Amino acid sequence: MRAYDIIYKKREGERLSAKEIRFLIDGYTRGEIPDYQMSAWAMAVFFQGMDAMETAELTLAMAESGDQVDLSPISGVKVDKHSTGGVGDTTTLVLAPLVSAAGVPVAKMSGRGLGHTGGTIDKLESIPGFKVDLTMEEFIHNVNSIGVAVIGQTGNLTPADKKLYALRDVTATVDSIPLIASSIMSKKIAGGADGIVLDVKTGEGAFMKKLEDSRKLAEAMVEIGREVGRKTIAVITDMNQPLGLAVGNALEVREAITTLKGEGPPDLEELCLTLGANMLLIAGKAKDFTEGYNLLQETLVSGKALEQFGRFISAQGGDPAVIDDTGLLPEAKYQIELKSDRSGYINGIKAREVGLLAMSLGAGRATKEEDIDPAVGIVLNKKYGEEVARGETLAVLHLNDHELVEEARKRLRSSFEIKEKKPEERPFIYEIIS
Ligand code: URA
Ligand code: CA
Repeated sequence: MRAYDIIYKKREGERLSAKEIRFLIDGYTRGEIPDYQMSAWAMAVFFQGMDAMETAELTLAMAESGDQVDLSPISGVKVDKHSTGGVGDTTTLVLAPLVSAAGVPVAKMSGRGLGHTGGTIDKLESIPGFKVDLTMEEFIHNVNSIGVAVIGQTGNLTPADKKLYALRDVTATVDSIPLIASSIMSKKIAGGADGIVLDVKTGEGAFMKKLEDSRKLAEAMVEIGREVGRKTIAVITDMNQPLGLAVGNALEVREAITTLKGEGPPDLEELCLTLGANMLLIAGKAKDFTEGYNLLQETLVSGKALEQFGRFISAQGGDPAVIDDTGLLPEAKYQIELKSDRSGYINGIKAREVGLLAMSLGAGRATKEEDIDPAVGIVLNKKYGEEVARGETLAVLHLNDHELVEEARKRLRSSFEIKEKKPEERPFIYEIIS
């Protein structure tokens, strides 16, 4: 078999066999197939696409290219959740205690990642004492005893995807649906999930801006799940404005606590209940979506989810007192209110802009080596559709470097679109694909 022939075949629009895909991925992982051939192949896939079987085969080849997590010592159905990335996405912090309090084990491995804010791991680390570097034994022990654990990624997971994703990034081949779908799913499968709930974002602040493309991506991932025997459900949700109110690491922990107290922003609560209900459904804890949704609502209202968050924090060395006193979380030196210069209605909040601003304040990292500042970020006071009076607070900047204030204020103001007219209502959850 030669890489040349496989590239040629795909260029001509033919379907590749499982053997050919394995040959390519295994050879690339071992360094035997060079970047230039993989780039040519990725470009051929970009133009010619791949069918469901090819995509599933690529997913498995990448999932099996390195270490695979064995979650079998944990009893029950292990359901993982993945978001295609948004701005101010606090869901994992809420879902881990919420879903585990309802009796579904949550064994989550999470990356630090790059982006507007840190990853879930960085957010959790803003809790004083919280440890994310448990051994595999401690990880499994915690899930078996209290139902939940979240750790930073260890081992050599999906090296093929790491190499290929980096290559796609510099060869204009990222935005191919089969390549994105297989990249995401390979990581979830290598992470040991029996079932997967996907939050596919759509809109200005998302990877996929158009609903139609988001739907195609969601369908491709659900299809992979079917082909490889991991039940997968995708929820398509709005990312035309940041999720919830907080964008920043400790700020999002505070927001998660508020949400677990039942006093969170409605969009964040709705998303957590929706994703969580689907996790319960896959795990067999609920016979349908509504039963799962109601069970989670009860878990929230009764305070069980909040109690579980305390247990989770303690089990990983953190101080559970943050739940009653969020002042124990890192706080920024300066909290600067942005007042509205006019009255009207919020017609839009540019999610991407707010995310990039949070990153410039130090909430996220652009390269793996950078440190993040857990305290900084942005807390919105107004969301899409709300009325605002002149002089009323639109948002609060949390920052440690006073020199950034003027620029940050300008950027934040320009993220808000304020008009006289009340905008049309917009759905928040578009579709559920299973
Ligand atoms: N996220 C991933 O993990 N992979 C892609 O290819 C795109 C987004
Ligand atoms: Ca948020």
